[in-house]
Amino acid sequence: MTGGAGFIGATLVPMLLARGYRVRVLDNLSVGSKQALAGSDVEWFVGDIRDRAVVEAAVENVHGIVHLAAPTSVIDSQLDPCMTSK
Ligand SMILES: NC(=O)c1ccc[n+]([C@@H]2O[C@H](COP(=O)([O-])OP(=O)(O)OC[C@H]3O[C@@H](n4cnc5c(N)ncnc54)[C@H](O)[C@@H]3O)[C@@H](O)[C@H]2O)c1
Repeated sequence: MTGGAGFIGATLVPMLLARGYRVRVLDNLSVGSKQALAGSDVEWFVGDIRDRAVVEAAVENVHGIVHLAAPTSVIDSQLDPCMTSK
């Protein structure tokens, strides 16, 4: 799951784990925190979805991807629109 340390991920990851899924979280922790999933048995990839090598490592042998990582501050995206399109 990209962005798994964020607001939605902190709820969705435990739901998936409770259903027996194994979960990897790829998050750059720019907003989210490992603390949001404290005690959850997830495999962490701390990195950026714009980093191809990190993404390739994170998706190796996975069966599905939930993509949540995104800059979610409207103000930040208005101040720096290019940041959201890289
Ligand atoms: N929360 C809502 O009500 C809501 C509503 C509609 C859509 N969404 C969408 O759902 C997604 C998740 O929302 P959220 O509320 O959990 O946001 P959030 O900001 O809490 O979580 C986003 C996570 O993505 C991570 N992230 C940001 N940029 C990254 C990057 N380049 N590489 C790796 N990780 C990165 C952040 O560290 C954070 O943990 C977003 O795409 C958002 O636009 C959310």
